[in-house]
Amino acid sequence: MAQSSQFSRKILCIGAGYVGGPTMAAIAAKCPQYKVTVVDINPERIAAWNSDELPIFEPGLLDVVKIARGRNLFFSTEIDTAIEEAEVIFVSVNTPTKTFGAGAGKAADLQYWEKTARNIVRVSTTDKIIVEKSTLPVRTARAMERILNANDKGIHFEVLSNPEFLAEGTAMEDLDHPDRVLIGAPETESGKKAQDVLVEIYANWIPRERILTSNVWSSELSKLTANAFLAQRISSINSISALCEKTEANVNEVARAIGMDGRIGNRFLKASVGFGGSCFKKDILNLVYICEKYGLTEVAQYWENVVAINDYQKQRFVETMLRVMFNTIAGKKIALFGFAFKADTGDTRESPSIDVTRHLLEERAQVVISDPEAIPNAKKDLADCETEVTYMEDPYTAAEGAHAIAVMTEWDLYKNLDYDRIFDKMEKPAFIFDGRNILDHQKLYEIGFNVFPLGTMALKHF
Ligand SMILES: NC(=O)c1ccc[n+]([C@@H]2O[C@H](COP(=O)([O-])OP(=O)(O)OC[C@H]3O[C@@H](n4cnc5c(N)ncnc54)[C@H](O)[C@@H]3O)[C@@H](O)[C@H]2O)c1
Repeated sequence: MAQSSQFSRKILCIGAGYVGGPTMAAIAAKCPQYKVTVVDINPERIAAWNSDELPIFEPGLLDVVKIARGRNLFFSTEIDTAIEEAEVIFVSVNTPTKTFGAGAGKAADLQYWEKTARNIVRVSTTDKIIVEKSTLPVRTARAMERILNANDKGIHFEVLSNPEFLAEGTAMEDLDHPDRVLIGAPETESGKKAQDVLVEIYANWIPRERILTSNVWSSELSKLTANAFLAQRISSINSISALCEKTEANVNEVARAIGMDGRIGNRFLKASVGFGGSCFKKDILNLVYICEKYGLTEVAQYWENVVAINDYQKQRFVETMLRVMFNTIAGKKIALFGFAFKADTGDTRESPSIDVTRHLLEERAQVVISDPEAIPNAKKDLADCETEVTYMEDPYTAAEGAHAIAVMTEWDLYKNLDYDRIFDKMEKPAFIFDGRNILDHQKLYEIGFNVFPLGTMALKHF
């Protein structure tokens, strides 16, 4: 391409998903001197990236895309051409849990990553730096390096690990001001040189002291560990929420008291119906699998329990609903407020709402799903339950004639609804199950609701 000569570097990202799209948009917006191309095998996704209806909902993303798109940010399906011209290739394809064969249900499925690596070898004619952006099992870079460097073209590939720590819902802010950027490289001369190139890219907007360098294995393992620790905090406070409900302790008060301990810290201590998202469960299970492979049974069991508590919390939420609604919810209408796995995203992967809906359907409840961004994804998740579930974006309509509301996502919108109006149109006795502890429980109780928060005593009229 004639115009490409004006750029000082050519960067490519393979995989235009929740990570590849926002990350590359941020790099392109910050660094107009680089040409940044994002490719994907999914043409609809690429078409959406080239429109104003982006394929993912992320606050602030469209503005950043608009700064750079067509200037130095390009979304394309021309994967081979893009590989050939790039010097630095980020690989941000999906790495889901394996569903078949050895390690099914735990190990990471690396087929997309490996296909990408083989494609890179096939097309390349010059040396390249390959950056693992996807979350991968520790020591994957070794396998990738073997595949990449087993070429007879005399081309050298340097494989670096640069895991992404952004959180959906705050991705643009996280990319703007990351707590840290981690770059793992082989401890060789060429490894160090490649690491310097990546450091230089990030140093365009990130203070040097926040750019950490390490060996490749520490970098790969740090990402799995970060997700395991974050999920562990949620499961820890959720396990205590169950005890609070039995003892008249209040989980919010407990969380505040322990969170003020500087050694513990106050973040990620909010009791909820459970964690979701595409990463926590898959990354912990991947860690569990790796520990098992190394014969570290106790370590594997320790981390597996973080996932077990999460399943328990979702189950417990539905069991409470069933118990307090007179042991039957068959035929009762239950409105879910929120389906996304957290606020400010339309992503529903591993959302607790999926399991909760399925448990409710097992009890033959009628489920109405409401969410400002996630309904299209919810419909895909529950495609097999088309006749039993209805969708209403408007929460007021969703709650009409309902016996209960279950708050599943902490969208601000649900904090400020006119609950008097909602109560009037519901079946009585009316119930609210606050799976995110975001509502004013006392006020709801005064309106007439029977209120069931998580980890604090219920407020009920009977
Ligand atoms: N979602 C997050 O919050 C998050 C945060 C940090 C890290 N990660 C990690 O980043 C990786 C990507 O996650 P995501 O949420 O962006 O996934 P995603 O499913 O949204 O996106 C992956 C994209 O890769 C594309 N793809 C797959 N194989 C391809 C190939 N051979 N060539 C070109 N494109 C291909 C898919 O079509 C898809 O669009 C995962 O390893 C994940 O664990 C995710």
